[in-house]
Amino acid sequence: MINKIESLLKETKEFSPKNPTEIEEFRIKMLGKKGAVTEIFEEFKTIPGEKKKEFGQKINALKNAVQQKIEEIKNSLTASYDYEKMDDPSRPGNNAPIGSRHPISLVKNEIIEIFTRLGYTVADGPEIEDDWHVFSALNFPPEHPARDMQDTFFIEKDPDVLLRTHTSSIQVRVMETQQPPIRVICPGRVFRNEAISARAHCIFHQVEGLYIDENVTFADLKQSILYFAKDLFGEDATIRLRPSYFPFTEPSAEVDVSCNLCGGKGCAVCKGSGWLEIMGCGMVDPNVLESCGIDSNKYSGFAFGMGIERISMLKYGVRDLRLYFENDLRFLRQFDSVI
Ligand code: PHE
Repeated sequence: MINKIESLLKETKEFSPKNPTEIEEFRIKMLGKKGAVTEIFEEFKTIPGEKKKEFGQKINALKNAVQQKIEEIKNSLTASYDYEKMDDPSRPGNNAPIGSRHPISLVKNEIIEIFTRLGYTVADGPEIEDDWHVFSALNFPPEHPARDMQDTFFIEKDPDVLLRTHTSSIQVRVMETQQPPIRVICPGRVFRNEAISARAHCIFHQVEGLYIDENVTFADLKQSILYFAKDLFGEDATIRLRPSYFPFTEPSAEVDVSCNLCGGKGCAVCKGSGWLEIMGCGMVDPNVLESCGIDSNKYSGFAFGMGIERISMLKYGVRDLRLYFENDLRFLRQFDSVI
């Protein structure tokens, strides 16, 4: 019996399990109902009285050693990894931070979505353009100030290689390659040589639109823009058109939407007027249609163009345009919850 106790003690000391299952098997083997230690306690009953003390101490020591060993191993396993959790495949995973969309993208997508519903498709074009697509085809007179070095970024002093100042250049490309009916919107980055301030930047984003078909009138233009404004700024939004000038549209107008912050009563953002300027628009000048190979006697159309930064500032109450370009996470994270 002494030998048996000694060998069980040795086995306990050398026991080193590879996983939690082996610990449990060891516990049952030793301390279970038919376990080795339990059996020895049974045998102990047959031991003559005078030897009971000596054997009793040895058996108790064995039992304690086994229990202690199991405890020790469990503790060390828990310390190295949380094995109970690791073993549970149904446990929910850790949340991975997934970032958020940039407010410019959010507003761009929203504008695209509204016009897609009206049957428009999205058109794209190059950021590096030539004079024809940015100015000449759009009826800019040769000495028009918009061509001036102060407004336009020219590449390597060549007056015919420049960064587009508006995405109307995409509309020219569409008109040159497609015959009406045409319904496109042209989102994209544009470049103007302007000093950077809270209200202006030398790089910004636009969405421009073009609708050409037979019998398109100014009433169609007005109704489309009203639909757009109500969708973007809410059902209560109203619009007003002020006469304006663009070389490529005649007549031309600038569009104001009722201030969504004060409901038209007048506040700091709308400078007390109750109105916010959101875009330029007009009926496409027949000269532009002819330049692009479209019969201006048969077809007419309207165009409009807006700055995404400006719309986004109005929608989210952003006061400084520079915030859009600084990549400050404290600013960007505020748009986490917007899809
Ligand atoms: N292209 C004009 C701009 O960049 C906007 C505009 C587009 C105005 C279409 C009228 C019609 O300012």
